[in-house]
Amino acid sequence: MLDEIKQNLTLPVIVAPMFLVSQPALVIECCKAGIVGSFPALNQRTSAGYREWLEQIQAELGEGDAPFAVNLIVHKTNPRLAADLELTVEHKVPIVITSLGAATEVVDAVHSYGGLVLHDVITTNHAQKALAAGVDGLIAVCAGAGGHAGSYNPFAFISELRAITDKPILASGCISNGASILAAQAAGADLAYMGTRFIAAQESMASDAYRSMMINSEAKDIIYTPKVSGVNANFMMPSIEAAGLDLDSTPTPTMNAEKELNSEAKAWKDVWSAGQGVGAISAVEPVADIVQNLKREYRAALDALNTSASAYL
Ligand SMILES: Cc1cc2nc3c(=O)[nH]c(=O)nc-3n(C[C@H](O)[C@H](O)[C@H](O)COP(=O)(O)O)c2cc1C
Repeated sequence: MLDEIKQNLTLPVIVAPMFLVSQPALVIECCKAGIVGSFPALNQRTSAGYREWLEQIQAELGEGDAPFAVNLIVHKTNPRLAADLELTVEHKVPIVITSLGAATEVVDAVHSYGGLVLHDVITTNHAQKALAAGVDGLIAVCAGAGGHAGSYNPFAFISELRAITDKPILASGCISNGASILAAQAAGADLAYMGTRFIAAQESMASDAYRSMMINSEAKDIIYTPKVSGVNANFMMPSIEAAGLDLDSTPTPTMNAEKELNSEAKAWKDVWSAGQGVGAISAVEPVADIVQNLKREYRAALDALNTSASAYL
């Protein structure tokens, strides 16, 4: 199964789906560069729009390209789930990333055409439920990740997950350079799951202001709060200040996927998410260049590690 995911990969990397950031150009360039590209179905405002993006991506990708993935929010407040799942099956999307809930019906539907389901988890309890629902792999969303992050240290969390499954485990959170990709493998993960490093990519939907705030931010600028979307997530503090949001006086909203579909989703438009790995971003670059740099860093990290580790063996 891991072999299916690794088909045509030139680095062990999946670029995470990012709300209001990922679009077909980003997905296509990732897959052409040899890493898995992905997008949340909800980045299109309607299911018809979702279909258009699937068609666009499938028309551009060919035999030698890496597979692509789509993120479905499996939550009772997502009114599009049934329609989007039907389109996912119709288009035989190679990898489906499920968030919030792991439902057997979704897993069975994706398996019916030979697709794979990877599920986001922030606790071992979530992981056990997802494995019981039949998912093919787990994404360990650890502390410091962009978006809805977890709070566990990756060494602890990946070890706990490794103890309960032989299925693929992806490490997520602050993996922003080639050395960290290698570190994720050393810690027991099969693949690295990277979001923040790709927000400022030329092919993303991020605004110029979002990109320049990323270039000027470091880990100290990231705040973990449930006050924007009702679920704990990491955001750049300067964007919270610029939006005039006072975290002390703002009540925690209720998580609602439907709201993220309409204008009330302004929250994520004005308040920008990034993980603690944001310090690695110093320029707006095309995906192809980011991947080239990651490969160079990965190679250099492996060489350095071989030298330093051999002293102890
Ligand atoms: C701006 C932004 C939006 C995100 N939106 C989603 C989303 O819609 N669905 C999802 O499953 N994960 C989402 N994520 C989380 C990522 O999938 C992933 O776990 C995270 O970016 C990895 O950590 P890193 O950003 O430190 O690399 C988002 C992350 C960011 C930064």
